[in-house]
This record gives sequence, structure tokens and C-alpha cells, in this order.
Amino acid sequence: MFRGLSSKDADTICEIINQAARAYQGVIPEDCYHEPYMPREELYREMKSEMKSMSFFGWEEDGKLVGVMGFQPIKDVTLIRHAYVLPDYQRKGIGTKLLNHLKQMMKTKYLFVGTWADATWAIGFYQNRGFRLMPDKDKLLTRYWDIPGRQVETSVVLGMGM
Ligand SMILES: CC(C)(COP(=O)(O)OP(=O)(O)OC[C@H]1O[C@@H](n2cnc3c(N)ncnc32)[C@H](O)[C@@H]1OP(=O)(O)O)[C@@H](O)C(=O)NCCC(=O)NCCS
Repeated sequence: MFRGLSSKDADTICEIINQAARAYQGVIPEDCYHEPYMPREELYREMKSEMKSMSFFGWEEDGKLVGVMGFQPIKDVTLIRHAYVLPDYQRKGIGTKLLNHLKQMMKTKYLFVGTWADATWAIGFYQNRGFRLMPDKDKLLTRYWDIPGRQVETSVVLGMGM
């Protein structure tokens, strides 16, 4: 079942992100991985910032939240900011449900997602669902995201038009 999420859910969202993000450990460059991957304060800041207007929704199963997707309309596009499913619930179609839900809700023509260049499973997830790797990723990451230079260097952008 889908559920809209608010800052009241921030602790649970953080827990899901941090558990799922362990997939990055030993895969992405060592200097880019830290635990917790998403500190609570950072998530609170992102969710409360009026400038960023990031919203979350999630998928509940067995009466608990097991997957989350955060998105942010910015300028003429929508960004997927965080997409995480608890390890025990991965590869059961929940990520696809979250993505399809976002596609129905978004009001912009283009949907972009940035992920680590080494996260091949995530790249495959998006490529198999209509996204393509964008050749001008540095330009896009600088225009739409607010991330450190090292993350720009080590990330890719996938995009799709509706
Ligand atoms: C990426 C993620 C959000 C997808 O959610 P999900 O519920 O597992 O996705 P679905 O079950 O709908 O789709 C599964 C597809 O995703 C890809 N995938 C997900 N996990 C994978 C893994 N460990 N290895 C290889 N492919 C994987 C595959 O394309 C898979 O299709 P397949 O099972 O037919 O091979 C989830 O796996 C996750 O949280 N992963 C860890 C964190 C992460 O990479 N987040 C992405 C940030 S942009």
C-alpha cells in the first residue's frame, strides 16, 4: 500500500535508507561511503527546506514501511532524490511500484535520477524501466543537484521523458 510521508516519518525513512545503502559498502569509492549513510539531521534539513521542496512517499507491507522514494520538482524537471527498499524486501517489485507511482504523479516532462557510477544494479534497475544514461551528466548534476564535486565525479545521471 502506498503512503505519503512527512517529516514525522523521518526516522523510519532514515532507517530504510541506511539499511539499504549498505549495498554501497565496498562498491562505491571508499571516501564516498560513510555510516550512517544518511544522517538524520541531513534528511530533516532536506525535508524541511522550502527551497528544495523534497517530498517522500513509501510502500507498506506487513503493516510496516519497507520502501521509500523521495522526489523533488526543480526548474523544468523532477529529480528522484532517494529510492531505497529494505534488503529483505528487494527484488519483489516494490521499487518498480514506487517508480510507476512517481511517474503518474509528476508534472514535468523529464524525470532524472543520479546514482553512483559503480552501483550497476541501480543503473540496471532504471535502464530496464525506460531511463537512459545521460551523456551530459556533469552539466545536469551541477544544474539540478547541490552535491560535492567528488560526488559529481563519481555519479551518473539517468533520465527519461514522459
Ligand atoms: C534499487 C532498488 C531501489 C530497487 O528496488 P527493488 O524493490 O529491489 O526493485 P524491483 O524489485 O522493482 O526491481 C528489481 C530490479 O532491480 C535491479 N536490482 C535490484 N537489486 C539488485 C541487485 N542486488 N542485483 C542486481 N540487480 C538488482 C534488477 O534490475 C532487478 O530486476 P530483476 O530482479 O528482474 O533482475 C533497491 O534494490 C535498493 O534499495 N537497492 C539498494 C540501494 C540502491 O541502490 N538505491 C538506488 C538509489 S538511486
